[in-house]
Amino acid sequence: MTTDTTPTASAPTTAITHIGQLVTNDPSLGEGPLGLIQDAAVVIDGDRIAWVGESSKAPATDNAVDAGGRAGIPGFVDSHSHLVFAGDRTAEFNARMSGRPYSAGGIRTTVAATRAATDEALHTNVARYLAEGLRQGTTTQETKSGYGLTVEDEARALRIAAAHTDEVTFLGAHIVSPDYADDPAGYVDLVTGPMLDACAPHARWIDVFCEKGAFDGDQARAVLTAGQAKGLIPRVHANQLGPGPGVQLAVELGAASADHCTHLSHADIDALAQSETVATLLPGAEFSTRAKWPDARPLLDAGATVALSTDCNPGSSFTSSMPFCIALAVRDMGMTPDEAVWSATAGGARALRRTDVGRIAPGARADLALLDAPSHVHLAYRPGVPLVSAVWHRGVLV
Ligand code: NIG
Ligand code: FE
Repeated sequence: MTTDTTPTASAPTTAITHIGQLVTNDPSLGEGPLGLIQDAAVVIDGDRIAWVGESSKAPATDNAVDAGGRAGIPGFVDSHSHLVFAGDRTAEFNARMSGRPYSAGGIRTTVAATRAATDEALHTNVARYLAEGLRQGTTTQETKSGYGLTVEDEARALRIAAAHTDEVTFLGAHIVSPDYADDPAGYVDLVTGPMLDACAPHARWIDVFCEKGAFDGDQARAVLTAGQAKGLIPRVHANQLGPGPGVQLAVELGAASADHCTHLSHADIDALAQSETVATLLPGAEFSTRAKWPDARPLLDAGATVALSTDCNPGSSFTSSMPFCIALAVRDMGMTPDEAVWSATAGGARALRRTDVGRIAPGARADLALLDAPSHVHLAYRPGVPLVSAVWHRGVLV
């Protein structure tokens, strides 16, 4: 063994200057809820943000990058995706676009393809969709299992996910495995027993698809409480395809988030507003299933915390683009551009219980994006245009 006694030189500092308008999401640093700073500078030291303020007051640094008036935002925090899968479901999408409704049964197609795929193919797929997201400004990505549905295949999916991200969710309760078609109770026993034992070490979160055709309220409760007993924190696929008990269960169990939230009662909205559970809206799913949009307005007006995420998966929402989700949320879900950008950054961080991402402030992780635009509003104003022109992830320009 050798000991390296060379003193480590401190990492060079970089200043990004002349950011036309910067969203910090820290109201103590700038104007309004987004903490906006005009002609801003951000100093990066290693993987952290060291200083944020007006360009004219920026401290001296080793390197400087002139943003030339481009807008800056925190890297997106995509708190809901299903990236460990193989194959795609183009035929199912085509059928839907000719009028067929979405059915959770399509998940079985992806389960078969995923089980048949090699580890290498699954790693390649996860890396591909993460890279797609990163190019579009996503610097924190949650992802789930749920296309394995055996002890081995679920544990494998989580090991693969954990090689790419810290935010890993066990979703063995995605649908009842086709192997247990006649014995749903037996499948819940498997998920809450041997499958959970094999999967818990690889995950931070536990999720369940609480919906007609997947798991009812009692089954979902059994799955989530078993996960909690193993130290996993719940999040819930709730009220996506119709009304149901998912949101109330999420709030009751102190889940980090209730995701989808498309079919909400007044009581669901009140429960979310009075809780710490984040309502995560996934407009890519309604786009791709031609379903009714979730309505962010009553949630925001009641005081609930709203996050926006992609739900990237080959069945119901095959997009990795947070800017696309922002544009849909502004056009069709009652959100202002400011609210949508907050929800796609700080909102996602809340849904993942993270304080180091989703904001640009001293001490936060150095994750930010520059836009070929004068302000973040252009993310909704110029839909479909690739405005993200530079991304720093953990302090590195990617
Ligand atoms: O979040 N709702 C359940 N799971 C996914 C859909 C998965 C699929 O269709 O493959 C979702 O929309
Ligand atoms: Fe999902």
